[in-house]
Amino acid sequence: MRIFLTGATGFIGTAITAELIHHGHQVLGLTRSDAGAEALLAAGAEVFRGDLQDLDSLRRGAAAADAVIHTAFNHDFSQFVANCEADRQAIEALGSALAGSQRPLVITSGTGMGAPAPGMPASEEHFNPHHPNPRKASELAGVSVAGRGVNVSVVRLPQVHDTFKQGLISPLIEVARAKGVSAYVGDGQNRWPGAHVSDVARLYRLAVERAQAGSRYHAVAETGIAMRQIAEVIARGLHIPAVSITADAAPAHFGWLGDFVGRDLPASAQRTQQLLDWQPRGPGLIADLEAMHYRPD
Ligand SMILES: NC(=O)c1ccc[n+]([C@@H]2O[C@H](COP(=O)([O-])OP(=O)(O)OC[C@H]3O[C@@H](n4cnc5c(N)ncnc54)[C@H](OP(=O)(O)O)[C@@H]3O)[C@@H](O)[C@H]2O)c1
Repeated sequence: MRIFLTGATGFIGTAITAELIHHGHQVLGLTRSDAGAEALLAAGAEVFRGDLQDLDSLRRGAAAADAVIHTAFNHDFSQFVANCEADRQAIEALGSALAGSQRPLVITSGTGMGAPAPGMPASEEHFNPHHPNPRKASELAGVSVAGRGVNVSVVRLPQVHDTFKQGLISPLIEVARAKGVSAYVGDGQNRWPGAHVSDVARLYRLAVERAQAGSRYHAVAETGIAMRQIAEVIARGLHIPAVSITADAAPAHFGWLGDFVGRDLPASAQRTQQLLDWQPRGPGLIADLEAMHYRPD
């Protein structure tokens, strides 16, 4: 297939590009920069110039492809709500170019959207349209375009990692470095799920190849790693102490991450493994954090 990939220059998109090309697909990668275009050409992809803000460019990219995978997102968390709304519009635009065809659209969300109740593992069957996280806009847009006949499926992500980047744990490491302590909230037994970026890329490929309309997949290799364990491995890497702080102190200590750090967010991938015959193979989160090179300041 010729696949229009938004976010093709990003952490996960780079791995998806390699995975798709390795399996015989053509990648038409969205980029807004010369550096992005160079990286895409070096990876063996075609370059498609456009921008998330330019919805017409998204429609044209989707119209030129057999399938679309959407991973682009503006990660400026100071404008998170606006960025989630922009994602809704991007998905609506991509969907409008695919409506009336069976060409698949795979969109991106987070595993937190599938939590049935606090502390219970998120599952593929659940979606809370009233979730307090504004990122629900992405899945609501998926529901909306599905209603117009688009073959859409959702890949929900946990903390995606290798030895260089680890989702929200990367900015957490920067907080620890700046504060001189690696903190967790309370007893630190709240959990975050994880998956290696290579496993995540393979899951996107399987999802777009399977083109199963209405599916929700969890790219989860590890159901939940305790935040205390994460804080302790960061502490060892930075040669600083691991400390507990109260939930009340979290916003001041972690800044915008304070909203997330104390949350218990386990997630299951049982159904995904069955549906896609997907078995994670990559290293675990703690192994990647142990192998990471923590630069001295
Ligand atoms: N990484 C994780 O652990 C994780 C966890 C949960 C969900 N997710 C979601 O997974 C997706 C991919 O994440 P990632 O970690 O790969 O993100 P990333 O490394 O920050 O990459 C983001 C991508 O979006 C592109 N982008 C941003 N603003 C754009 C714009 N205005 N126009 C066109 N392209 C734009 C970037 O292009 P440039 O190269 O031009 O900047 C880049 O290719 C996102 O939806 C993210 O929210 C990730």
